[in-house]
Amino acid sequence: MNSAALISIDLIAKTSSTVLTISGAPGLSGIVKYAPDLFAVIGGKGVYRVDFTSNPPKSSLIKTISEAGNLNGLSTFTNESVLVGDAGKGVVYRLDVNKGTYEQVLKNVTMAPSGSIPFGIDGLRYRASDSTLWYTNIFKNSFHRVLVDPVTGKAAGSVTTLWTNLMGDDLCFGPAVQQADGSTKESAKVYVATNGKNSLVEVDTSVQKPSPKTVATVSGSTSCAVGRGEGEGGCGWCCV
Ligand SMILES: *[C@@H]1O[C@H](CO)[C@@H](O)[C@H](O)[C@H]1NC(C)=O
Ligand SMILES: *[C@@H]1O[C@H](CO)[C@@H](O)[C@H](O)[C@H]1NC(C)=O
Repeated sequence: MNSAALISIDLIAKTSSTVLTISGAPGLSGIVKYAPDLFAVIGGKGVYRVDFTSNPPKSSLIKTISEAGNLNGLSTFTNESVLVGDAGKGVVYRLDVNKGTYEQVLKNVTMAPSGSIPFGIDGLRYRASDSTLWYTNIFKNSFHRVLVDPVTGKAAGSVTTLWTNLMGDDLCFGPAVQQADGSTKESAKVYVATNGKNSLVEVDTSVQKPSPKTVATVSGSTSCAVGRGEGEGGCGWCCV
């Protein structure tokens, strides 16, 4: 948040290096890959494209969300749009990554900010297979899901609260599951970094009222991702 450097980490070699610094961004607070080698990155009120198809990689501004309070979470949505969480305002925008157009699509009391640094919705992840958005509210210690319209991103059902007694920061789905016919299916498992609770918990989304199961201890865990490199598949966790 206090530097606009994007850092690449090799999970096997345990090395890291700065790949680029996003000019114009005061700091970085969210990242998601939306297409092969293309990432959306939040920097202040701006959402930037970081393009790894060129060497060295380059960044460019997709759009400044001028009315934003405190952009924090990001999720892929369609193949040309992402959902952007605004922790300061307690809303979600859908941003077209090619056109740069955006609109506020979700707003709910479960996303609203609280706390000394007003922060509400923090981590968010959309799963296309069931058109469901999962999100945490960091200072409400809560975790929620809502069915959304797969085209507009607007609510298509009511918000379900999974818990209100465990801090949640960013989250990620488990590794895709290989099917007998060779195809892959999105994971039914979601993992939540619990920040001040110093852990990573696993949630089985196939049950109505899942209880979080601690699967790792990580000090101040703020995010997680499934490793995709050779030797990392399905068990290469990265939590910072
Ligand atoms: C995105 O998906 C739509 C609908 O499935 C398809 O028509 C379009 O070609 C896709 N765009 C890209 C860039 O893959
Ligand atoms: C927020 O979600 C709750 C639970 O689904 C619902 O009762 C309420 O109407 C929602 N508020 C808004 C403004 O949509």
